[in-house]
Amino acid sequence: MINIQPITNDITWIGASDRRISRFENLFPLTNGVSYNSYLLKDEKTVLFDTADLTVARQFMDNLEAAMEGRKLDYLVVLHMEPDHCALISAVAERYPDLTIVASMKALQFVDQFHPSLKNIARMTVKEGSVLETGSHKISFVAAPMVHWPEVLFAYDDVSGALFSADAFGTWGAVDGSVFMDQHDFDKEYLDDARRYYANIVGKYGPQVQAVLKKAAKVDIKMILPLHGPVWREDIGRFLDLYQKWSTYTPETDDIMIVYGTLYGNTGSAAMAASARIREKTGKAVHVFDVSETDVSYLIDAVWRCGKIVLFCPTYNNGLYPKMETFLHDLAALGVQKRTFALAENGTWAPVTAKLMRAELENLKNCTVLDTVLTIKSTLTDEEALEAFAEAIAQA
Ligand code: FEO
Repeated sequence: MINIQPITNDITWIGASDRRISRFENLFPLTNGVSYNSYLLKDEKTVLFDTADLTVARQFMDNLEAAMEGRKLDYLVVLHMEPDHCALISAVAERYPDLTIVASMKALQFVDQFHPSLKNIARMTVKEGSVLETGSHKISFVAAPMVHWPEVLFAYDDVSGALFSADAFGTWGAVDGSVFMDQHDFDKEYLDDARRYYANIVGKYGPQVQAVLKKAAKVDIKMILPLHGPVWREDIGRFLDLYQKWSTYTPETDDIMIVYGTLYGNTGSAAMAASARIREKTGKAVHVFDVSETDVSYLIDAVWRCGKIVLFCPTYNNGLYPKMETFLHDLAALGVQKRTFALAENGTWAPVTAKLMRAELENLKNCTVLDTVLTIKSTLTDEEALEAFAEAIAQA
């Protein structure tokens, strides 16, 4: 069944959603599926912007065929060469063998790596400032290296003011009904997925996102057409503001998160007691996570939301509780900044984890690790220590 939606008079969304996917990149759990967006511009020349994932091949190729209405495809613009968008380049080239692939030099190198059979397809190298004239439209290209791969370009259409933004400004979540975000409730339907997607996929590259946001500020963007999730054409500033916060590692809220590891429930019980005391002293929302029960991608999402992070960790093999160690590793890998950490440790005979966590966290830029530590021996019984711990968090 064909499922295409007009974006403007001559730009059509021909993407597709996968609701059966359980993990993006075989790694991140998804509960609402994901869309793979592709856009067709029909001017004097025809231009396809990116393809889609192999899992939606049939839907995508049917959509493309229908949207083309018998015309030949002149250009395939490849903004991003990750397989969730480039997997169907060979299929498109087979159907439209006279097309020219338009991409950055690095992307064309990746085309050859992923699609070695395409060596004879015509190609055009573009870079920052290049312009592709298609008749009445001029498509200009903006380099967006490491957002989040090195070959990435954005493309800007002078007629519609559409910014084709590759993975940036995308979100997990299938496109239900309308392809336009203004016909959805962003906060209810997409915000959590958009933040979790940003933090886990693009979060490491804040400076590169900042660089491209500065370039984007110089053009009159009327629409944002990302490779995942709905298209933005109203209230674009809302999403740009969020990207400004997220890419500068500024906490989205002043909420507090508590993450605990627990073998038998004692450290968890201490964390819950602390959550009530911290809520009482700060008046801020406190979100508690069991590190064993929560996929780390959701913890990373909460890190981008919360300014203060409280870690409760038992000793394990004279080291860190393994799941906590994984979480700390992710914080470092994603280059988290501008957070305040408070540490609680539990060890029946060797409480050592505050020191070990501090050593990991002190490598993070612009972060503070509070001096006050809550040390528990098996079970939390020291009310005064808990009080002092909560007070130190409130004062930080
Ligand atoms: Fe949606 Fe980086 O691929």
